[in-house]
Amino acid sequence: MPLQIIVGAQWGDEGKGRIVDWFASRADLSARYNGGDNAGHTVTVGPRIFKLHLLPSGIIHPQVTAVLGNGMVINPRTLFEEMDMLNGSGISTLPDRLRISYAAHLITPSHQALDKALEGARGKDNIGTTGRGIGPAYTDKATRRGLRVADMLAPDFQERVGDHVAETNRTLRMYAASELDPAPVCAQYREFAERLKPYIADTSLELHAAMQAGKIILVEAAQGTLLDLDFGTYPFVTSSSTTAPAALTGLGLGLDAARTASVIGVVKAFQTRVGSGPFPTELTGDLALRLRGSGANPWDEYGTTTGRPRRVGWLDGVLLRYAVRINGITELAVTKLDVLTGLESIKLCTAYRREEQSYTDLPFGPSDLSPYEPVYEQFNGWKEEVAAVRNWPELPSAARVYLGRIASLAGVPIRLVSVGPERAQVVEKL
Ligand code: GDP
Ligand code: IMO
Ligand code: MG
Repeated sequence: MPLQIIVGAQWGDEGKGRIVDWFASRADLSARYNGGDNAGHTVTVGPRIFKLHLLPSGIIHPQVTAVLGNGMVINPRTLFEEMDMLNGSGISTLPDRLRISYAAHLITPSHQALDKALEGARGKDNIGTTGRGIGPAYTDKATRRGLRVADMLAPDFQERVGDHVAETNRTLRMYAASELDPAPVCAQYREFAERLKPYIADTSLELHAAMQAGKIILVEAAQGTLLDLDFGTYPFVTSSSTTAPAALTGLGLGLDAARTASVIGVVKAFQTRVGSGPFPTELTGDLALRLRGSGANPWDEYGTTTGRPRRVGWLDGVLLRYAVRINGITELAVTKLDVLTGLESIKLCTAYRREEQSYTDLPFGPSDLSPYEPVYEQFNGWKEEVAAVRNWPELPSAARVYLGRIASLAGVPIRLVSVGPERAQVVEKL
């Protein structure tokens, strides 16, 4: 398929980065279409662990051209740090393989300050944002006063940055937060503009041409379905559209591109969430510690961007079915199966109950999950290590039963199962 869209089917951190990396060996382009450096996508290649916040995970493969789409909000400082990190590992980030949409929006220190001020004002009802300025940058976009990447090409860019800082200072004052001095921000963004200029492109046009030439485009969502601004657990969501259909608007592709698309939903073998909001299958106590890990392994459940411990629980099949529907997921990639090895038994939420009635689909989406009790099916665990397994028949039979039930609940097949963070630790179900 020329267009392969990889989306998170839960609350983010499903392992999208490593799945993108797997597909990227056969791709020509790798594109991000939403969010910004609130994302943290991990790719493990031997001893090297790449943590990517803005650059698409496919960039590690040398033949891939990376694209940052118009739907993104970009903090140039993070972008340059990430480019420098890759350059230091011998991975080129020259303009011939990195294209940035002129219509993407810029994040500034003012947005970050506002993010913190807004969270502070919410008090105990805070969203638990990553503090990266994502919400305020998308607010500026929606209120039509945002700074776009193309503004960097304008002769009066520095003045525009100054106006933006002054404008934000007015709001910061309302929250009794410290204001920013515009001068250093303007000077810094002038420098950023000089470095970014050669990368600025009409990425919609370039992607369209690539599709016409039969190239394979790998599209990588940030966050997850349940953090989507419309379809997530609102208001405990991010400020962008994280679902697969948004890939088209976030990249400037027309509906014709969807005809050739496959949508791969990445789902962890259990459930996690970082930040506030509902989580019906959440676990506490020893079992939660067991699933989260102590932090000793690089894959233990601590945020890639903020380092916060992630909340953990059993896989929620009702929310997975929902994610399949909202995204049009055609196949699943199940990650972190290895983490479940050694558990005596495993639970899977197959329905919700409310006042004696059972639901496998949510009547009003996931915003208010408080009236529902999860209904669980219990599965036998397995003791065999799976990290070295590469073929489906070699997986423990109990694991295959569990995975089979996930697929039947979701209503779509499982294509990939990952059994460790390393590039090769993948079972492809042929
Ligand atoms: P993303 O945001 O969806 O790309 O996911 P993150 O990178 O934030 O979090 C996933 C974490 O799990 C990373 O540390 C990955 O290296 C790790 N990981 C991914 N797949 C597997 C797997 O199958 N097994 C184990 N043990 N770790 C995995
Ligand atoms: P990846 O792409 C997990 C969460 C934050 C917070 C909410 C809003 O690595 O899967 P924001 O800073 O976006 O305004 O925060 O969304 N969040 C994520 N959780 N993975 C992510 O990205 C996330 N990006 C944002 O924790 O609850
Ligand atoms: Mg992540």
